[in-house]
Amino acid sequence: MILVTGATGGLGHQTIDALLTTNPAAEIAALVRDVSKATDLVQRGVDVRKADYFDYPALVQAFQGIDKVLLVSAVAFTDRVRQHLNVIDAAREAGVKHLFYTSIQRSSNFVLSEVTESDLATEAYLKASGLIYTILKNGYYFEGLGYLIGSEVPDTEIRFTAGEGKIAFIKRTELAAATAALLTSEGHDNQEYTLSGSEAYSFHDIARELSTLAGRPIVYKSSELAPYIAHKVASGFPEVVANFFAQWGAATKHGMLAGTDNTVEHLLGRKPTSLREYLKATYFSGR
Ligand SMILES: NC(=O)c1ccc[n+]([C@@H]2O[C@H](COP(=O)([O-])OP(=O)(O)OC[C@H]3O[C@@H](n4cnc5c(N)ncnc54)[C@H](OP(=O)(O)O)[C@@H]3O)[C@@H](O)[C@H]2O)c1
Repeated sequence: MILVTGATGGLGHQTIDALLTTNPAAEIAALVRDVSKATDLVQRGVDVRKADYFDYPALVQAFQGIDKVLLVSAVAFTDRVRQHLNVIDAAREAGVKHLFYTSIQRSSNFVLSEVTESDLATEAYLKASGLIYTILKNGYYFEGLGYLIGSEVPDTEIRFTAGEGKIAFIKRTELAAATAALLTSEGHDNQEYTLSGSEAYSFHDIARELSTLAGRPIVYKSSELAPYIAHKVASGFPEVVANFFAQWGAATKHGMLAGTDNTVEHLLGRKPTSLREYLKATYFSGR
């Protein structure tokens, strides 16, 4: 039986959706911390189990009878390492054989505070745990682009802290489908995969595509961290959040998210969504 954690969140829920297209619901379990958010999963016959990553005894209980766990990484700024180590230890204690962990892509040595730091600690612990492991180094979601550049088509310019850096964006549903394919096939013991898009795009590329779609010139101007953070704070974001966005730009500038890998393309059996397709569907759907 396969158990997916974070099952009321985006990636976990979409991975279960993908699993249900090929597997009976009786073979799938979902870990949630709020059962009231998982009624659709219950209705579809998924075995919904309740535990918080901080609640070790509940995790051990929830993992009974499970062969494979997909550990969807915890959110930033919430002591991710403690939570991940609890899940790994509880999985081992409950007799789980194989644990998949969702890291962020690492195409350079840039260490993104609150994300890569805790991924590295989790991966090292998992590798030493005795469990069979598979590490999924997930690309940056297309769905996260709006946080960085805004959710409306900009009038004339995009400002971000990415310099000339590129991101091999991937749609979360495609990442979920690829993850489900890995969970249900053999040959992934003690392997690491980069699950990125097949093409990487700079913010100049994003501005160019938006210009084409909007029919007016839109340019990208790289920004230093401080003015970008000040702008985000002025538009209503808490400083810690604005700083976090800016750090994703710094990571991009240093190539952390730029590597392209054809694993997702291979698992989907087609090219993943392109930048133009994503921008058109997201920013121009009503036009
Ligand atoms: N690659 C990227 O671009 C990217 C972007 C953002 C995040 N991420 C990482 O990838 C993960 C999955 O992304 P996502 O979009 O699915 O995030 P999401 O929608 O925020 O889902 C996170 C899931 O984790 C669960 N969770 C959080 N803390 C927990 C805890 N203490 N115990 C049990 N469950 C807990 C949440 O439960 P509730 O539903 O109860 O809140 C939710 O189901 C994120 O958590 C983050 O680590 C990656």
